Amino acid sequence: MRQPAFEMERWQSHFENTVRCNLSDSGVLPFRFAEFCEFANVDPSDVVFGYGLTEGTADLRSRIAAMYPGATENNILVTTGSAEANFLTVWRLVEPGDRVVIVQPTYGQTPGLAAGMGAHVEPLWLDESHDWQPAPGAAAEIITAGTRLVVVTNPNNPTGVVLSDRARREIIDAAEAAGAWILADEVYAGAEVAGGVTPTLWSGTERVIVSASLSKAYGLPGLRLGWLVAPPDLREDLWARKDYTSIAPAVLSDRLARAALEPETRTRILQRCQRIVRANLDIVEAWAATTSRLTYRSPDAGAICLFRYDSPIPSLELAERVRTEHSVLIVPGAHFGLEGTFRIGFGYEADKLPIGLGSVAKLLGAIQPATA
Ligand SMILES: Cc1ncc(COP(=O)(O)O)c(C=O)c1O
Repeated sequence: MRQPAFEMERWQSHFENTVRCNLSDSGVLPFRFAEFCEFANVDPSDVVFGYGLTEGTADLRSRIAAMYPGATENNILVTTGSAEANFLTVWRLVEPGDRVVIVQPTYGQTPGLAAGMGAHVEPLWLDESHDWQPAPGAAAEIITAGTRLVVVTNPNNPTGVVLSDRARREIIDAAEAAGAWILADEVYAGAEVAGGVTPTLWSGTERVIVSASLSKAYGLPGLRLGWLVAPPDLREDLWARKDYTSIAPAVLSDRLARAALEPETRTRILQRCQRIVRANLDIVEAWAATTSRLTYRSPDAGAICLFRYDSPIPSLELAERVRTEHSVLIVPGAHFGLEGTFRIGFGYEADKLPIGLGSVAKLLGAIQPATA
């Protein structure tokens, strides 16, 4: 089976470590190793570099389970990032010819994977004119009988918008009526700009798998530590499939993840994230207010913001010019199927943001607006 390229990850793999200013990352400033050990009061110097427990240690799994109502460590599988959790789920559930509904725009992993596995991928679009929620009734129209899997990223990437109670209910009801599984990618939960934590879809329905990781709100993407939450039987199957992929989480990552998810430490880590997101979003919004060339919807969660610009230039060309002329990396909307837009990530150093944003403004100034 031919596998379509994962365009956004290719774009980042090529350029994110070589540009002067990287506005393509969707997480907050990662911790340094020594800084984290002090912050979390952990000394991992006695870690033995054997293969660890392949499903994740019981301590880590019970700390993860505590975040999901009614879950126990038997519902949890530790994975290499949420990327592996998503991969295992799609690999296990999807057969060629299956109908897979994916709430879009979204991170391109599950649409690309499902298509590569021979599924019929149908988008359920978040609608800009409905505050980036699915239009009322759209879920029931698209999640039809025989749909095998519904994938929803909540909070959403690239918009940073959290599903409304109405939209969440409609998706769950439609999936239940169709007999479909739901994969809820909740990797941006905990990075909320204001208000409480995004409600999890876990326990909202029986046929649900949740994926998440320490990569975004926790500032620990380099640990490559994620997890999935699933009904025990399915979790067993997914664990068996993991024997074919990464086998086990890195023992050092398992140890540091246990420290990160110790309840008091976790609270402080999420407070750090939310402080960064709020302060940096203020900078982004003050910048956006200085131009009439952009429109956007302020994100609910995640250090990401999607902008619509007012020029006919294709988003790939715009992003390529920002990169080659200014050495700044943004993500073109084409990578999300949204022409006329780009995504910026704003969770890194506040003092670098004006450099990157200023470059985007300069480039916009150099191109024609649509009405000119
Ligand atoms: C929605 C979503 N899911 C999954 C991932 C993969 O992240 P990780 O494997 O680091 O958890 C990303 C990364 O950007 C993402 O945006």
